[in-house]
Amino acid sequence: MRNSFEAYQTIYEQSKNNPEQFWSEIAQQFLWKQPWKETVTFDFSLGENQWFIGGKTNITENIFSKIEDKSKIAFYLEPNDVKPEKSVISYGALERKVNQFANALRKKGIGKGDRVCIYLPMKIEAVIAVLACAKIGAVHTIVFAGFSANALADRINDAAAKCIITAQELVRGEKKVPLKKMVDEAISGTSILFSVVLDLEKNHDTSVEEFDFQSFYQNEAEECATEWMDSEDPLFILYTSGSTGKPKGVVHHCGGYMVYTAYTFKNVFQYQSDDVFWCTADIGWITGHSYLIYGPLLNHATSILFEGIPTYPNPGRFWEIVDKYQVTHFYTAPTAIRSLMTFGDAIPQSYGLNSLKVLGTVGEPINKEAYDWYATIIGKQNCPIVDTWWQTETGGILISNMAGIEPSRATYAGLPLPGIFPILLNEKGEEITDPNQEGYLCFSYPWPSMIRTTYGSHERCIQTYFSHFKGYYFSGDAAKKDENGLFRIIGRVDDVINVSGHRFGTAEIENAMNKHERVFESAVVGYPHPLKGQGIVAFVIVNDLEDQSLIESIRSTVQTEIGAIAKPDLIILTDSLPKTRSGKIMRRILRKIAEGETTHFGDTSTLLEPTIVMQLVAAFQSKHIN
Ligand code: PRX
Repeated sequence: MRNSFEAYQTIYEQSKNNPEQFWSEIAQQFLWKQPWKETVTFDFSLGENQWFIGGKTNITENIFSKIEDKSKIAFYLEPNDVKPEKSVISYGALERKVNQFANALRKKGIGKGDRVCIYLPMKIEAVIAVLACAKIGAVHTIVFAGFSANALADRINDAAAKCIITAQELVRGEKKVPLKKMVDEAISGTSILFSVVLDLEKNHDTSVEEFDFQSFYQNEAEECATEWMDSEDPLFILYTSGSTGKPKGVVHHCGGYMVYTAYTFKNVFQYQSDDVFWCTADIGWITGHSYLIYGPLLNHATSILFEGIPTYPNPGRFWEIVDKYQVTHFYTAPTAIRSLMTFGDAIPQSYGLNSLKVLGTVGEPINKEAYDWYATIIGKQNCPIVDTWWQTETGGILISNMAGIEPSRATYAGLPLPGIFPILLNEKGEEITDPNQEGYLCFSYPWPSMIRTTYGSHERCIQTYFSHFKGYYFSGDAAKKDENGLFRIIGRVDDVINVSGHRFGTAEIENAMNKHERVFESAVVGYPHPLKGQGIVAFVIVNDLEDQSLIESIRSTVQTEIGAIAKPDLIILTDSLPKTRSGKIMRRILRKIAEGETTHFGDTSTLLEPTIVMQLVAAFQSKHIN
């Protein structure tokens, strides 16, 4: 559609002059059971935005009833273990299974507005479950199948989910995770009424009714009546970490999310109908929702659904898959690129990789070295790289060059998409107009897939995103702009750590550690990590600094409370923390220590016990790496 930089500039200007008309024209390309009356209303002081108001649609109708050739492959299913053959599912077959599963859910009393928790491996059943919910208007809440039973229980309770769809086990590389066992632990005493379990092995009594996934739906009709949804009905809840308290449920609504994910998929990646798209993200994260499931399916794309990990059975697995399916678009996280780089160039060079046309990255800032390696060794200097900046809350990509169209600059996400109006603000909330100055990345106008609320507490939504700068959505990131208006994302400025592209709140990890019976107090900060982007360092007050076994046991408490992915990389046992006289931990100092600073700590005169700083520096420097 848009295939030159000049065209982008023209469209961007048009979208700026009349955003309502811009989005209205795009939305008209979708199937609506009933047209909308008003394109957008918003009031950031109330944390509100609404899109295509009064319209009725269903995202699954836009996927399945608009496709001409139902034999087109929706997904290539690549299992954890290498298999020479190709397993595929067409749009037609997927639709039938979605309808059957939707019918089965309905029979069990699940309907519009009910929350359904999904805790599944990267298998087609996850896609079926997600779309079946959407078909009947149930609100899915996917929990990444790497979170612990406790973390799962928290999310189930918060969402008051009625049922859970899971698997007996998950296999990732050589590791097996007993998902069903964790679900059993998580659901007792919650609102869950029944569970549907892939490959169910029934061997003990459980607190709720259970069904084997296949038997649950295989005899159901292949037709299913669509629940026509208001554009502003919720489609899903996805939990994400913030700087305070427990993870919050980000709520996305039907109409706007549909329009925006479809639009951005098509334009950012410049996907053509016979391309093969591969997004490596897990369905448990927003990238999996928007660019593994909804965005590609709404564009009738063919995608890869990969169950495994990049290094199993060897670090050539990604490249082998690219060649096997002749992947044209490859979308992954900088952390994966950095980790695969460490195995050397010879591995990717032993594959063809000739089918690749576009490369993408997401989730964290990409460093120059990784960018260059990606462009040269994987893209053979032949593929534009789209560095896509967005968030769980934004629903879709907001800032990114569009493949091959706009100027791209290594480590810069690039220009905003049409209809997106970012602004950099200083501490006082004034706009920064000079180039190359760091500021807070904010937005002055909504976009269709913008967060609608945080589940159960709209006040929290207002506080988190709309209260820092009046009249703006604040992303929590710092960024700068070059002379040409290209954005470079610096990273989070709040107490959120980005570990391998996964978000954690420092308070969330501290709360988990504080549950350990021998931990008195703890403080968590991020530190630069060569592979993960940021690693987690925890300064922990205990009464026996010599007992090194505590370190492993504290890490295992974090694993129990949140999941293995949140385990601190470094735990420093201490008898004190740098606190002000009023008892507040000076995190600024801990952050500096974690960045490797040894001497310059700024003003430390308000510290109750200044000597602790050098003590912690020495402890950090001696690297208690575990
Ligand atoms: O700090 C930014 C970083 O990831 C955060 C959002 O995390 P999450 O909601 O988990 O969504 C990740 C996938 C969309 C942002 O606040 N981030 C995301 N993409 C980029 C990025 N940082 C730099 N460059 C990116 N391309």
